[in-house]
Amino acid sequence: MSTRKTERLDGSIAADVERAARLLRAGGLVAIPTETVYGLAALALDPLAVRGIYAAKGRPSSNPLIVHTHDLESARALTSWWPPLASALAGAFWPGPLSLVLPRAETIPDEVTAGGQTVALRVPDHPVARALLKQLGAPLAAPSANRSEHVSPTTAEHVLADLDGRIDAVLDGGQCGFGIESTVLQLDRAGPRLLRAGAIPRDRLEALIGPVALGAAQDRFSKSVLVSASPGQHQRHYAPAGLLRLCVGPEVPSVLCDLSAIAQETLAEPPKLGVLLCGDETPEPAGALVLRLPGDAVVYARFLYSALRALEDAECSAIAIEEVPVGVAWDAIRDRLTRAAAQPS
Ligand code: TXA
Ligand code: MG
Repeated sequence: MSTRKTERLDGSIAADVERAARLLRAGGLVAIPTETVYGLAALALDPLAVRGIYAAKGRPSSNPLIVHTHDLESARALTSWWPPLASALAGAFWPGPLSLVLPRAETIPDEVTAGGQTVALRVPDHPVARALLKQLGAPLAAPSANRSEHVSPTTAEHVLADLDGRIDAVLDGGQCGFGIESTVLQLDRAGPRLLRAGAIPRDRLEALIGPVALGAAQDRFSKSVLVSASPGQHQRHYAPAGLLRLCVGPEVPSVLCDLSAIAQETLAEPPKLGVLLCGDETPEPAGALVLRLPGDAVVYARFLYSALRALEDAECSAIAIEEVPVGVAWDAIRDRLTRAAAQPS
């Protein structure tokens, strides 16, 4: 892939937002802030521009993208079926971190849906994303703005660390508020199904619409479920470089010992050890770079990806992560940590 100069644009400057809109209109790739994580945006209805997203990220073309719109009506126009449940959910959670998977309209290119019959849609709640979408008057396809399988970016600096020279611009909108990706919910005639735990916990959805099924549908009669089964949910993901293991607090020292022994077999020099603790009960083990995040799920989520990147930037080659509490508020975090710790496939 050819290198290009990546422009740094400031989301608080109107001329810079206009510049981002111009680049996008010309078929370019611009990383944009959202309330969850930064997204790598291109015009959703321009198949060539959308292909550029896959190339820049190194993303498999089988993994569909979320489409972002300025408002409910523009999202609805991209579907071929809009049940009352979609209106209820959009009314309660948009703008915000809920992506709804619905049957697609014909106008959506196959590149966005990975050839499937559904499309994921959301109206983001970030002032810079909203200003940009309003100015453009067109939907934007945007996956998280990281190299495929790496940790999602929550600052413009994270975006540049992964994609500098591969995209046209990054629009800086500061640190993302949620810090973790949107909740992905599929709506079809079988009812609501949670495809990815995310920034809106499941209990908040259920308080509005009743029970929500979990995971991808197993419909052996329909080929399209191969796509609608959220292919992005493959095991290893959100992962920093290095060996990573999840454990309860009291096991941190022994897990560090184990990881150290494993790493030493493959590395010439002793590994640099990293630890991520949750809450303030577990004491800091010696001989490791220790980061601690608070025992509050909202704050933990906001800084989780920064912490994982910091451990990676410090070249920690063996990392122990303290398990987070049980409970639905921690579901999305637990999901990301489990995937980060999964063995490469
Ligand atoms: O918060 C977010 O959702 C961020 C911001 C930028 O909006 N975006 C994001 O995109 O996390 P991405 O591509 O990293 O994750 C999208 C997830 C993937 O797991 C993908 O497989 C799933 O949504 N997805 C997208 N379209 C789908 C569809 N039509 N059916 C099922 N799953 C879909
Ligand atoms: Mg992603």
